[in-house]
Amino acid sequence: MVEVSTSILSIKEGEESSAFLKLETAKTDYFHIDVMDGKFVEKNTYEKMLQNVDYIKRISNLPLDVHLMVENIKETIDDFLAVEPNIITFHLEACKNKEEVYKMISYIKENNCKVGISVKPNTNIEEVYEFLPYIHMCLIMTVEPGKGGQTFLTDMLQKIKTLKNYCKEQELELDIEVDGGINLKTAPAVKKAGANILVAGTAIVMANDFKVIIDELRA
Ligand code: DX5
Ligand code: ZN
Repeated sequence: MVEVSTSILSIKEGEESSAFLKLETAKTDYFHIDVMDGKFVEKNTYEKMLQNVDYIKRISNLPLDVHLMVENIKETIDDFLAVEPNIITFHLEACKNKEEVYKMISYIKENNCKVGISVKPNTNIEEVYEFLPYIHMCLIMTVEPGKGGQTFLTDMLQKIKTLKNYCKEQELELDIEVDGGINLKTAPAVKKAGANILVAGTAIVMANDFKVIIDELRA
């Protein structure tokens, strides 16, 4: 089954509350929360996302899918655990060494939350293999992290396939999420390659009817 995680990053200022309500009615599978610190990526969405998740929690029971694009992972986990996310994903590239990766995995799990690890387009997928038995999801970035509305990198299809095959071989039950440039044109290939959670921001936010686009992306 394919699920859709709606990135709220590109919702226009002032339109947040109505968009969140529409997404709740349209039954997005997750709210995708892009947390940026102005260091790991240029943009800083930290305070805004803390406010947004606080609001979403008050109006919706739908799960939160928190994507950390930050250097200081531990501190950010602490800040976002308060809203009881379903899953927290951090970037492999933000960790200094393997020990830190294992520490973050344990820390998130100890706090009753699922764990994901994300890889940037230039990171080899093999680098994440040793951590897969301990996590719930691998997030393959299909654009350079940092902003919404970018073009899907077609080279990433092979990366998705490689990961999917590896998981099959190793009998690993793992969600494969893709993020960046996902729309009705790019979604079919991504699903065929093996992704089962699609993050979409611009494609959903720009659509007239959130339910129609979410259903079409999922189909
Ligand atoms: C990029 C973010 C994405 C992005 C998706 O750094 O992680 O979640 O906002 O937006 P679209 O769908 O517009 O590429
Ligand atoms: Zn994201």
